[in-house]
Amino acid sequence: MKNIYIIGNWKSNKSSSQTVEWFEKIAHKKDLIAKDAFKKTVICVPYLFLPLAKSLIGKYALDIHLAAQDISPFGEGAYTGAINGKQLSEYCSFVIIGHSERRQNFAETDEVLAKKVTMALANGLTPIFCVKDSETSIPAGVKIVAYEPLFAIGTGQADTPDNAERVALEIANKGIENIIYGGSVTGENVRSFTEKDHIAGVLPGKSSLDADSFVNIILNS
Ligand code: PGA
Repeated sequence: MKNIYIIGNWKSNKSSSQTVEWFEKIAHKKDLIAKDAFKKTVICVPYLFLPLAKSLIGKYALDIHLAAQDISPFGEGAYTGAINGKQLSEYCSFVIIGHSERRQNFAETDEVLAKKVTMALANGLTPIFCVKDSETSIPAGVKIVAYEPLFAIGTGQADTPDNAERVALEIANKGIENIIYGGSVTGENVRSFTEKDHIAGVLPGKSSLDADSFVNIILNS
C-alpha cells in the first residue's frame, strides 16, 4: 500500500478568524479524515497562523499535520524578517521549499533552495520540494517532491494524469520516494492522479481554501 499525501497550501490567504472557521468546519468532519492509516493530511498555513492552527488541531484532536510554506536558508541570528527552522519545528513537521511562486516572485535560486533543504533537515522538518519538471535539480535528502507544472498552477487546467505519471516516474528514477502532483487539483480530478502507480498524493492550492472542498479531496483521493 503506498502513502497518499494530501497537502493543502493556503498560500498568502486567510485571516485569523477565517483560520478558526476552517478548522471548525474540518472538526465537524474529522471522523471522515482519519479513516486510513496510509493517508496523511497536511495543511500549509501562513507563518502567522501556525501557532493558532496548532492549538486548533490540539483542541479538536484532528489528524492533520502542519506545514510552513517557506523556511529561512539561515539559522538563528541577524536575519531580519526570516523565520528559521528551529522556530518552525516548534509548530510544524513539514515545510514547502521551492514553490514556483517563490522561485519567480522572490528570485529563489537552486543554491538558496539547497540551503533551505539543509536547514529543514537539520531541524527535523520534512521538506516538500516543488519542481516544475523532471529536469529541475533536487537537493540531497529530499523524500517528497511535488511535480507542479507552471501551466497548471491556479489556472483550472490540470496536467493530464498520464503526463503527470510519466514525469513522476522520471523523478522516481532519481531515487525520490514520494512524488505528488500539484496544479488545479479538485475533488473531481484527484483520484485520476492518486490512482497512478508513481503518484503518492496531491498538493491543492485554491481547493484547500474551502474546508468542504478540501475534505472532498481527502475523501476522493
Ligand atoms: P492550485 O495551486 O491548486 O491553486 O493550482 C497549486 C499550488 O500552487 O501548489
